[in-house]
Amino acid sequence: MNQIIERIHKAADYVSAKIGDMKPVVGIVLGSGLGKLADKIEDPVVIPYKEIPGFPVPTAVGHKGNLIIGTLGGKTVIAMQGRFHYYEGNTMDVVTLPIRVMKVLGIKYLFVSNAAGGVNFDFHVGDLMIITDHINHLPNPLVGPNLEEFGPRFPDMTRPYDRKLMAKAQAIAEEMGIEVRKGVYFAGTGPSYETPAEYKYFRLIGADAVGMSTIPEVIVARHSDIAVFGMSVITNEAHDDYDEDYVNDGDDVVNAADAAADKMTVLFTKLIESL
Ligand code: HPA
Repeated sequence: MNQIIERIHKAADYVSAKIGDMKPVVGIVLGSGLGKLADKIEDPVVIPYKEIPGFPVPTAVGHKGNLIIGTLGGKTVIAMQGRFHYYEGNTMDVVTLPIRVMKVLGIKYLFVSNAAGGVNFDFHVGDLMIITDHINHLPNPLVGPNLEEFGPRFPDMTRPYDRKLMAKAQAIAEEMGIEVRKGVYFAGTGPSYETPAEYKYFRLIGADAVGMSTIPEVIVARHSDIAVFGMSVITNEAHDDYDEDYVNDGDDVVNAADAAADKMTVLFTKLIESL
């Protein structure tokens, strides 16, 4: 058997044995500082990544490293409290391993979240952005032999983010009085933050927010026909018109994400309820 396939099934078998007859419908990836949504999951089964065969332990700040299975919005969900990044030295097979494990476990929907820099001049710290599309500057995770049991060699990316979910999320946000923005997410490798010229370049090519994650997971989810909803929390203004003494070192990222996490939790829960 292909080594990647073997790794996916080993991990899926392990999780499956732990959760018994629970059948997760929605997968959730919780980005930097957004892990507290997991506290709202009822009757949780918590599986530390370090127990799951083939899973690395995340090293990124604000990423705890648990898989949490339980009920949210009346549905069985499986949430990643912390993700694997390319900048940590993981291969793309590892970055996307949990998504394929979730696929084997039966999810139909994937909700992804991240902390991002707002390159759109109208965006401010603490804003929530529904991801409408993306621009990928990370390696494509589907390079290599195609995993036929998951999807086709050349998957369609015309609609990476599900239009019905986006419309529903916007309606829910309006109903709840939560302000949301919409925009294009750009991902680079990191781990250095961008230069002012790079932020400007990303804005010019059509990005609204910039980060170091998410797109590989989305590509792998779409490859295996999982419907995706994505949300960025704007944690810094990537506006390239800084004050003299401004330092962009990520210190504010986790704090800003923490403040916005409650709004995002409400939105995700209501959206899951509506599925
Ligand atoms: N750039 C890249 N990744 C990020 C940023 C940023 O400005 N903010 C939060 N994640």
